[in-house]
Amino acid sequence: MNEIPELGQDVLNFIAGRWEPSSSGKWTSRYDPADQSILVARAPDSTREDTARAIEAASQASAAWRDLPPPRRGRLLFEWFSWMDRHRDRLAELLTREEGKILAESKGEVGRAMDILEFTAGMGRRLGGRVFPAEEGGVFCYSDSQPLGVVGLISPWNFPVAIPVWKLAPALVAGNTVILKPSPLTPLTAAALVRGLESVGFPPGVVNLIHGDSEPAVELTSNPRVRGISFTGSTKVGKMVARAAADRLLKLQLELGGKNPQVVLEDADLDQALNGVVAGAFGSTGQRCTATSRAIVVGGIYESFLSRLVARADSMKVGPGIADGIEMGPLVDSKALKRVSHYAEIGRNEGAKFLTGGAPPTTSEHQNGHFFKPTVIEARPEMEIAKEEVFGPVLSVIRAVDLDEALQIANSVRYGLTASIFTRDVSRVFQFADKVEAGIVHVNRPGIGGYSHAPFGGVKDSGYGGREVGDEVLDFYTETKVVYVKYQ
Ligand code: UN1
Repeated sequence: MNEIPELGQDVLNFIAGRWEPSSSGKWTSRYDPADQSILVARAPDSTREDTARAIEAASQASAAWRDLPPPRRGRLLFEWFSWMDRHRDRLAELLTREEGKILAESKGEVGRAMDILEFTAGMGRRLGGRVFPAEEGGVFCYSDSQPLGVVGLISPWNFPVAIPVWKLAPALVAGNTVILKPSPLTPLTAAALVRGLESVGFPPGVVNLIHGDSEPAVELTSNPRVRGISFTGSTKVGKMVARAAADRLLKLQLELGGKNPQVVLEDADLDQALNGVVAGAFGSTGQRCTATSRAIVVGGIYESFLSRLVARADSMKVGPGIADGIEMGPLVDSKALKRVSHYAEIGRNEGAKFLTGGAPPTTSEHQNGHFFKPTVIEARPEMEIAKEEVFGPVLSVIRAVDLDEALQIANSVRYGLTASIFTRDVSRVFQFADKVEAGIVHVNRPGIGGYSHAPFGGVKDSGYGGREVGDEVLDFYTETKVVYVKYQ
């Protein structure tokens, strides 16, 4: 294969260091979500049997990889970082073609993936354990962190570079061998990343790539050689994975949905709050688990904030992410467009008031892609549109009388990933940070993003089984072993 795959090519599975098609002989074609006439890639519909072979390859490679000193595993990841740096523009372009987000967002995503990689590669020199005081003389007691063995990584389409990187890097530095199963909507970027790992010299079998949909995922959860699964996707599918895994107590890390609130108090810097809500709700076309999907606005600023927000949403330039000056790209596919349209209909039926958007644009230049207008609606907190994850550019605005009510509304949904508040009142900042049910809280910042060395994840229906990113990621990718040595 070339140093990096080309647009429109067939991408293959990567098993035991070889690129190969699926034994099914079947393929799925992926088209540019902004222009359905552009073929992005064809990828195999892999079977359970292909996946079992990849698991076998990972299993064979496990002993030698686990024994390679961690600083050397880290060094290989630094080489991958350099590879990514050489190809960053190309990767960003493929990302936009395949997933649809605007080029600036794709460049930001590749940059974030590199930051995470830099932090995680350094773990090769920081892994280890603790020393415990002995209860009696002549004993040395310590802990060590050891790899799980073979780990399955099931990654989504919405961050097809950053999320595989933030799963692959800690899995590998900790000494696990892996099978990456990317979303069938983004096979090309996944193949590019694995091509990079191959070209910098990861040994055969340490990283395996299996394209496909549910069959590989079923094999990964049921094959006894797999010791852990890290999954990012919807809460519904996450619960299916957890059910399948329960029987054999398979270790899991699930990063799931969100219905993230942004609270705006009366004393906030309203320009800052407005920029925050626009970035949070419409960035990445609202297709992120951290998207701001509820703006909870308090007190007398409600009307003016709302009208400024509607004007901003109205003026956003929607179009192909590859073109200059575009502010919001398409949804990822026709299924996503159907789902978002369906939620809009639910909102209308339950009496939510649509202030702008709520439908695909009708202009001729938008007819080849899965576009949806930035949408602002007034909703009540108990409406489905204001409680369930839409995963699109649809913002529910909710009125609250004070911080207490805003908190009560914020916490009234089943999710708890991120939450954000805009205010200058330090007392209310800390009350909010303390009481809001979320894994990540932003103050005077949009609820999206996060540092590449800080833990990422949510509570309630948003996450399960430990955080990703940062040092905490090792809680999932390693097991703690405690050793007692009587030396005297
Ligand atoms: C971010 O907004 O910081 O699937 C990234 C997702 C998340 C990543 C969000 N796992 O949207």
